[in-house]
Amino acid sequence: MANGETNLHEHLDRVLFDQVQIRDRVAEMGAEITREFAGEPLTIVAVLQGGALFMADLIREIRLPLEIDSISVASYHGATESSGTVTFHQTRMPNLRGRNVLILDDILDTGRTMRAIKDKLRGECSPKSVRSVVLLSKSIERAVPIEADYCGFAVGNEFVVGYGLDYQGRYRNLPVIGVLKEDFIE
Ligand code: IMP
Ligand code: MG
Repeated sequence: MANGETNLHEHLDRVLFDQVQIRDRVAEMGAEITREFAGEPLTIVAVLQGGALFMADLIREIRLPLEIDSISVASYHGATESSGTVTFHQTRMPNLRGRNVLILDDILDTGRTMRAIKDKLRGECSPKSVRSVVLLSKSIERAVPIEADYCGFAVGNEFVVGYGLDYQGRYRNLPVIGVLKEDFIE
């Protein structure tokens, strides 16, 4: 490309969900959450970094007063398979006392991340309720039995990038979700 730009789309083997598909599904999810949380004190807790883009788009489709917060964890440590341990990075837990909490993540894979965050928030933050929303859910047998309360799309057991999802810290800014070409995986 001209001007030293990189066309990240060329790194994809195939696109699973384009911008229109993502936008439409996020709007549907926002409408569903609006109906179910009406009149309730809602706080959305995004799992960073992957949940950042989904959070930004989803909250603008929720027609309710709400608060946002975030939590930062790592489970992949640069590989394409979960390491099995969930490390919490923050020093401060969000203030969720008495609130209906919706944990928001990019993807549900083994389930370990969502399980660890749910347990930690329930144990340490005295929320009224804790539910979860993910944009993607891998159709696999989970390492821990957990499903999301709200899910955008199901995907197969393959490593995906884009719209917040990374490989070694990159591709989060790709506006579509897709599967990387083998040449770009170490
Ligand atoms: P789990 O703990 O195995 O459910 O993994 C959830 C976390 O792993 C998510 O928050 C993602 O950050 C990351 N993850 C899982 N699958 C993928 C993927 O296909 N691409 C990028 N990140 C992924
Ligand atoms: Mg993550």
